Amino acid sequence: MIDTADDLRLDFLDARVVDVLERLEGDARTDGALLGAVGAELGHLGATPDSTALQTITTVAEEALLPVARPVGRLLYQLALATGAKTIVEYGTSYGMSAVYLAAAAQQTGAQVIGTELSPHKAATAAANLAAAGLADRARILVGDARETLRELTEPVGLLLLDGWIPLHLPIFRILEPILAPGAVIVSDNVSKHADKIGDFHRYLAARPERYVRTALPIDDGIDLITRVR
Ligand SMILES: C[S@@+](CC[C@H](N)C(=O)[O-])C[C@H]1O[C@@H](n2cnc3c(N)ncnc32)[C@H](O)[C@@H]1O
Repeated sequence: MIDTADDLRLDFLDARVVDVLERLEGDARTDGALLGAVGAELGHLGATPDSTALQTITTVAEEALLPVARPVGRLLYQLALATGAKTIVEYGTSYGMSAVYLAAAAQQTGAQVIGTELSPHKAATAAANLAAAGLADRARILVGDARETLRELTEPVGLLLLDGWIPLHLPIFRILEPILAPGAVIVSDNVSKHADKIGDFHRYLAARPERYVRTALPIDDGIDLITRVR
């Protein structure tokens, strides 16, 4: 059973971190019309959108936080601690909810979080939120199309969150695949909600059973927990 009161507790976090997370949760209660508009744009997005298509949906979603749910954030925090990953990457930072959970764990493990965000406004706000949580030195955000910005990374990635526009989860994964650390953990969010758009990613993983193990977890809108075996 998930989403019990214990699953929603944040009392293991610093008070400044909790303040920021709770403020973002309040800000995230956006109107249905905005979420509907984002969903409609997502429906049009193919697996290889050009920069115009990507900019269109990102502009529509400019005021939408679309953050990870609290149980997902808590799990990310746990995974960052458990893996001890020194480099943590996220595709899709938005206003910084998941980045704050990851950076809070990184503060304990000495890791660095590398976020990615196409919207300069969202990236700047996420950076301010990380600073307000006392976590500025644990995270940096690459501004621009993650399909380009992530190519600068060379260090082994021990934990990867895929939480951008879902048709791009596989393309982004493939960009980072050569630098995934052995035993790397990958979390792919919203996979039940957008089950019709994640099939290519699932087929890619299933075709490589010696390398990847995937378990679907029924948390919030569904997440895939993927481990790189070697
Ligand atoms: C679901 S939201 C991320 C929510 C965030 N992880 C959180 O918990 O607050 C998806 C974000 O991915 C960003 N995004 C989508 N495609 C992108 C790309 N190609 N490069 C960089 N950012 C992208 C969008 O602008 C949007 O803010």
